[in-house]
Amino acid sequence: MPKKEMSKNNNKTNIPKEEADHKPRRDNKHARLKGMKDILFDEYRYYNLLINKANDLAGSYGFNRIETPVLERFKLYERSTGKDTDIVLKEMYDFIDKSGDKIALRPEATPSLVRAYIEHGMFNMPQPVKMYWLGPLFRHEKPQSGRYRQHTQFDLEIFGDPSPVADTQLILIAYNFFSELQINVQVQINSLGDPEDREEYIARLMEFYKERGKRSKLCNDCKRRFSKNPLRLLDCKEPDCIAIREDAPQIVDFLADNARDHFIKVLEYLDDLEVPYNLNPFLVRGLDYYNRTVFEITPAIDDLENNENGPAVQKRQISLGGGGRYDGLVEKMGGRPTPACGFGLGLERVVQKIKEKNIPLHKDKEPIIFLAQLGDQARRKIMVMFEEMRRGGYKVRQAFTKDSLKAQLEEANRIGAKYSLILGQKELLDGTIIIRDMESGTQEVIDMKKINPELARRLGEKEEIIINNKQ
Ligand code: HAM
Repeated sequence: MPKKEMSKNNNKTNIPKEEADHKPRRDNKHARLKGMKDILFDEYRYYNLLINKANDLAGSYGFNRIETPVLERFKLYERSTGKDTDIVLKEMYDFIDKSGDKIALRPEATPSLVRAYIEHGMFNMPQPVKMYWLGPLFRHEKPQSGRYRQHTQFDLEIFGDPSPVADTQLILIAYNFFSELQINVQVQINSLGDPEDREEYIARLMEFYKERGKRSKLCNDCKRRFSKNPLRLLDCKEPDCIAIREDAPQIVDFLADNARDHFIKVLEYLDDLEVPYNLNPFLVRGLDYYNRTVFEITPAIDDLENNENGPAVQKRQISLGGGGRYDGLVEKMGGRPTPACGFGLGLERVVQKIKEKNIPLHKDKEPIIFLAQLGDQARRKIMVMFEEMRRGGYKVRQAFTKDSLKAQLEEANRIGAKYSLILGQKELLDGTIIIRDMESGTQEVIDMKKINPELARRLGEKEEIIINNKQ
């Protein structure tokens, strides 16, 4: 990427250090809460990029957008996410409201989407129902790099489709999301089988952990997991627990024919689509509702090795997204038996990755026309022109509160304008305007009445826009 373009893309932010670190200032008693962050102007450009990508991909694959309330009943999560999961046990922002109801700030989107599917009778709609969701979630976790107490997810769910094609499509969308943003990722994939397969597996897993000397070496969380949620023993990140699990039985060896065939089909489809994946027998996900396919998106290994934070980041294997199938959940929550699957990815972690790798933001496809002025009369005229051009469909920008032309053109450069139209006192009297190519710096004086055909010629479109050039 040439230097000039880099600076235009404005990767460098002017955010104060403490903002960039996302650490609230301790000396300010009104500082934002720990683990929460403000997204300032320049950074928001990254979020816009991701939101546009999310809308575009979801639309291409036939998903419709849905929104749900930030607050839900606590019991919704206790029942769906699972009462023994870290989220429900340790991380919920829950409280009794003024009506005496126990409610919670949503920690994940899936339970609300299942609730909405049931509550709005979506089983009466043509199946599958494909929905997507974008919004903030709240988990009282220990803040660290890439882990916040409020984060934003792009979440997709497919209801009413038992086929491995549905699982594959979700993985493909997740993979496309990252590769189209030039982020190298790996898909970690496993199958948790159906509940009956898992029953037998868990019994074997517990036998394995009961063997002499193993349980005493487990971390405190895993000691608790052993009786409450033994599958989670497999995805603990503590070195001693990792060492013990190496010889543990693997769930894929316990899959009955239906679940095994389903899993093989997903892998075959991924092969056809050339989506690289890594079979990960220890991937179990931290939520109760999954069966069969589970997957996570992690940074590609070469990416981790090249990361300036080195092995520390590698060890954490931070997950950029995750999901899977949950065929039993709709029925468990009071709906009709409905196969379903979905995934969610965290926008904060993606933004972090884009910045870490210095991936340039693409310039807007639609060219920006900047309107600049010199002198009060010119400003009054160009303010009217600005409104006409904006209504006419041009992507126009301005800095009318600035008097200096230099400052205005700097702003035009900063936002990556393609052309600036400059109106000064002389042009105003002559009925002309200057058109400046911001890339080359060349300028031309044109008849005010010819702005529209001139822009149409240069941009190759928008001939139909009429600008009122009355003097
Ligand atoms: P999850 O794995 O808990 O899954 O979260 C999905 C993604 O959200 C993670 O991979 C990560 O990128 C992001 N994320 C989670 N917690 C944080 C945090 N504290 N700070 C920043 N980013 C975070 C779910 O939430 C499931 N509901 C996904 C799903 C949808 N499964 C089926 N459908």
